[in-house]
Amino acid sequence: MRRRTLEEQRRLFGFGILGVVSLGLVWHFSPGLPVMFAPWASASTRKAGLELFTREWQPNDPLAHGDGLGPVYNASSCVACHHQGGVGGGGGNQFNVINFAVTPNERDREMVSGTIHSQAVSKDFQESFDLVRKKYPIIKGGQRIVDHCSVVVADVDPLATESIQTTALWGSGWIDRISEKAILQNRRQNLLSGIFDELRAKFNELPVGRVRRLPGGKVGRFGWKAQFATLEEFVAAACGNELGLGTPYSRQAPPLGKPDYPEVKPDLDRKQFRQLVAFVETLPRPIEVISDSSEERDRVEQGRVLFQQVGCAICHVPDLGGVKGIYSDLLLHRITDPTPGRGGSGYGRPTPPPDISIPDDEPLPDEWRTPPLWGVADSAPYMHDGGAPTLEGAILRHGGAAKPSRDAYRQLSHPQRQAMLAFLGSLKAPPDAIPVAVAEERPPSRSGSLATR
Ligand code: HEC
Ligand code: HEC
Repeated sequence: MRRRTLEEQRRLFGFGILGVVSLGLVWHFSPGLPVMFAPWASASTRKAGLELFTREWQPNDPLAHGDGLGPVYNASSCVACHHQGGVGGGGGNQFNVINFAVTPNERDREMVSGTIHSQAVSKDFQESFDLVRKKYPIIKGGQRIVDHCSVVVADVDPLATESIQTTALWGSGWIDRISEKAILQNRRQNLLSGIFDELRAKFNELPVGRVRRLPGGKVGRFGWKAQFATLEEFVAAACGNELGLGTPYSRQAPPLGKPDYPEVKPDLDRKQFRQLVAFVETLPRPIEVISDSSEERDRVEQGRVLFQQVGCAICHVPDLGGVKGIYSDLLLHRITDPTPGRGGSGYGRPTPPPDISIPDDEPLPDEWRTPPLWGVADSAPYMHDGGAPTLEGAILRHGGAAKPSRDAYRQLSHPQRQAMLAFLGSLKAPPDAIPVAVAEERPPSRSGSLATR
């Protein structure tokens, strides 16, 4: 066989490199692999996980390896808050959690955030808004000398609180499996089509949303602020924060202002924690339920088309990364019209002094993750604070980047709006969810901290 000349070898090498680079580029811009397999766990693991999820935890609980429930907590079981439509659903406003955030300021230069727990195992640990306020008081302004001039500086309140509604956990194992590339590629596609729209002289604000990069570099996707990248991390945080149960991966929340609260062994061991995660991961996904009447079916289908036409689907993307019917891009958006002096809803954070910067990845006060709309018919009330009792109320609260879409909804005829609501009404909680035992439906007994807001 003839030996290749040097020239030919070089050419071959060049083609080889080109091939690898093109493949790399194709992969880089591809949406990654779609989710193909349903989350799975053995029946015995799921059963053990269900028991942990529905257990009424006690202080020094015999099932815990540490100090059990507390020292501070919000409720004594996961299901106390997550129960609408079955074990693992959302919860009404009486199950909201109160979070606080402190904007970096001249006294506290670090960003601080946390939860004001509503309950404690001992009166000494009871948290309240007043306790947080004492730690982060209003910074008095008044007459000051700046650059030899006397100026009047306004008071600054670095502390803001927010009431956060309990989300349904249906299908969260599917959300966990969506590839990061799918989230990024969907955004890129929206950006491109937005640019083409701009070129066609449609000068709307581009509602492409923002990817939340977490400190480890992963893309945040769970939580109203996209604050966790994986379901496992969220479950670990929920154990520590909502129930005061330490896990091998997270500490139990220490009582506010008691940093020397002693370390104890994690309450859940590795096996229990895996079982709890497996249970949440394999919760069934919501489904679309359309009645048999052809009239109703037509209405839902008309609503589905209108949902696309008025631009809802730009953010509430019907299918993402191979997961059908999720209706979310899992990105952060600002959909609140700014209120003078408050910068929109959310942690009404004041601007920090010029020499202190908030990290770029920290969400803005009014940035929220697009909630998946699957199951939305069974998860009222709506929005991060549960402030919208009805689906229409939720739509009408869309402003900011979603304003064109809301205005388009408003301009629909009455029957068209009804069709859209019928479509949203078809997005139901899973029919095969495990029913909640009556005793678990009662609200967690709340102490005074809610009333002090
Ligand atoms: C006091 C009420 C309460 C209790 C108890 C509670 N949660 Fe939650 N849960 C919430 C709230 C509120 C949110 C929304 C939080 C956010 O996004 O900031 C949430 C969100 C979640 C999410 C994220 C869902 C998503 O798609 O973003 C997971 C997972 C979760 N909870 C699991 C659990 C588990 C597991 C337990 C028990 C260890 C638990 N929760 C106990 C109130 C509660
Ligand atoms: C620019 C992106 C964007 C567009 C466009 C948009 N939404 Fe939303 N939607 C969001 C975000 C972000 C939230 C959560 C906001 C919050 O909690 O404050 C939300 C919340 C919702 C909720 C409440 C869900 C829940 O679980 O609480 C519903 C219902 C909803 N949107 C429906 C619609 C409909 C219908 C349209 C079209 C008329 C639409 N959205 C257009 C981003 C968008």
